[in-house]
Amino acid sequence: MSSKKPLRILLTGGSGDLGSLLSLSLLQQGDVPVVIDMATPKVAGVGFFQGSILDRDLLKMAMKDIDCVIHIAAWHGIHEGGKTPAEFHDLNVTGTFNVFEAAAAEGVKKFIFISSTSVDDQYGIYGHTKILGEEMARAYAHRHDMDVITLRPRAFIPSWNRTVYANFIEWAKWFAKGAVHISDVEQSALCALDFLRTGKKTPEKAQCFTVDGAYDFTAEDLKNWDKDTLMKYYPEFYDLFIKYGFDPARKPKVLDITDTKKILGYAPKYSLRNMLEELKTFGADGPPSPFEGKKKASPSQPKI
Ligand SMILES: NC(=O)c1ccc[n+]([C@@H]2O[C@H](COP(=O)([O-])OP(=O)(O)OC[C@H]3O[C@@H](n4cnc5c(N)ncnc54)[C@H](O)[C@@H]3O)[C@@H](O)[C@H]2O)c1
Repeated sequence: MSSKKPLRILLTGGSGDLGSLLSLSLLQQGDVPVVIDMATPKVAGVGFFQGSILDRDLLKMAMKDIDCVIHIAAWHGIHEGGKTPAEFHDLNVTGTFNVFEAAAAEGVKKFIFISSTSVDDQYGIYGHTKILGEEMARAYAHRHDMDVITLRPRAFIPSWNRTVYANFIEWAKWFAKGAVHISDVEQSALCALDFLRTGKKTPEKAQCFTVDGAYDFTAEDLKNWDKDTLMKYYPEFYDLFIKYGFDPARKPKVLDITDTKKILGYAPKYSLRNMLEELKTFGADGPPSPFEGKKKASPSQPKI
């Protein structure tokens, strides 16, 4: 347990991949995570309001005595095609409005909005809803003097999500193209929380911070990438690379996270080396999910 003043933190969509990891870490560091989600949390000991952020009465109850909101709930990339544009708009736009509005009504001043690098796809269904969300974040930060941090992670679905990745190799091939591990996205949210906790202000209101992973390569090697670059960095893993059909000539796409590091103190840890080590250790099964064997929380209202 840390010496930080504990905060009561509302995690919308807190039963999903990111929310579950965050719930676990927040509990471990002595904060009080409260989840609003239709699905039951994977982590025991969190406060839980079962239902939708589209239910404004429930949201009002969940927002009571909250110090900081981490707004996660959204349909995202994998739901494009599966969910209709109306469903995207309802959850990602109306839902985001509801969460900001409920926070403002309860006087909550600290807010972390999980956006996405998909804002680059400004005319896409998902990207557009995140642009609107970021716009709302700016409006609420100005109108209600809220301290809002917007995080823009690139794709981070974890390897243990078997509804998306059939096995670790599938995930590893995706990761090798340049990616961020979910544990680093979680770290970026914890950095943002600590930033807000200590009363610091971002240079711009509701500033957006890109979240990418760790890379082992120098800028020079990235620039001059060729099929031998991986051999230079990971000679001991090269056979593994070839065995699993990775393309060594494929240059990973790396994003600029200068401000995220400089302002929020974010320091990504998981790189291609970690992925290769896990591939060698766990093979196609991959590392176990951090929730394997963990007790389910009971869906009761919190007494905290
Ligand atoms: N997963 C990625 O690759 C990725 C990349 C960039 C940004 N993001 C953003 O990160 C956030 C979530 O990521 P994740 O991977 O943890 O998602 P996830 O799909 O694992 O979790 C989302 C959670 O939201 C809940 N939810 C859905 N509708 C809800 C509603 N009406 N009310 C309350 N809860 C609801 C779901 O039950 C689920 O538990 C989203 O904002 C997403 O846009 C995700």
